[in-house]
Amino acid sequence: MLEFNNVSMAIGKHPLTQNLSLQLQPGQLHVIIGPNGTGKTSLLRALFGELPLQQGAITFQDNSLVDLGASQWRQQFGYMPQNTQLELDLSVLEVVVLGRLQNLKLHLSDDDLRAALSALQNLGIAHLADRPLHSLSGGQRQMVLFAQVLLRDPQIMMLDEPVSALDLQHQMHLMEHLHQQTRAKNWVTLVVLHDLNLAAQFADQLIVLADGHLQAFGPPADVLTSELITRLYQVPVDIHSDRDGLPYIRTLRQAC
Ligand SMILES: Nc1ncnc2c1ncn2[C@@H]1O[C@H](COP(=O)(O)OP(=O)(O)O)[C@@H](O)[C@H]1O
Ligand SMILES: [Mg+2]
Repeated sequence: MLEFNNVSMAIGKHPLTQNLSLQLQPGQLHVIIGPNGTGKTSLLRALFGELPLQQGAITFQDNSLVDLGASQWRQQFGYMPQNTQLELDLSVLEVVVLGRLQNLKLHLSDDDLRAALSALQNLGIAHLADRPLHSLSGGQRQMVLFAQVLLRDPQIMMLDEPVSALDLQHQMHLMEHLHQQTRAKNWVTLVVLHDLNLAAQFADQLIVLADGHLQAFGPPADVLTSELITRLYQVPVDIHSDRDGLPYIRTLRQAC
């Protein structure tokens, strides 16, 4: 179990999420939602040990960052940050193999290469393997960085807006793959999304952040009410139920 115990965060003097207590279970996909600038990225950075806590503790399986030290703590993570600007002169296959960096010896093993190729194949982007990373579109890069993070085979998987540049097909492919692997590998998965319908379809648990506090935590059908969404985003919405009984959100236009 990954546990936040009364955690408060700040950047300099600017307070972010305060008094956050959460228990996240392995095998569950958690989606973080909330308006721009509410501290979603900062929450992931704090969990990764990049942003010191103001107060409280984060523990995973009874170890804390302080117990393990940053380098051992981070070995448990796969982390795909938001808007990574990589102008590397490397091929796609090379970038994906870097996901195994901690395990790389002086030369690549056949196993490392096989794993990288298989990740590319599973995501339907094996045809990009020899292309230089800098020649790809934003969406293609996002899929490549997802393949890279899969190779880490972590215990805690964090993805910050991983579908922001993806077309519908690739959004669904990435989220289905993440959902299936979260179950199969028993990851604690945290994903930041802005698309509430995608969040409703794939989240086991939603983490709703706004105004420096946890606003709600639970399954989408319990959490996503029109009151909550309008309060968060100041946009009126209707909520319908889709064929699986999951909430489906329709934004409503307002007369100008
Ligand atoms: N390096 C930084 N220096 C100063 N302020 C920052 C920095 N990074 C983020 N912030 C501020 O912290 C707040 C939360 O940012 P962030 O966690 O990136 O929000 P989100 O991911 O929810 O959009 C924002 O108000 C942002 O402007
Ligand atoms: Mg962010």
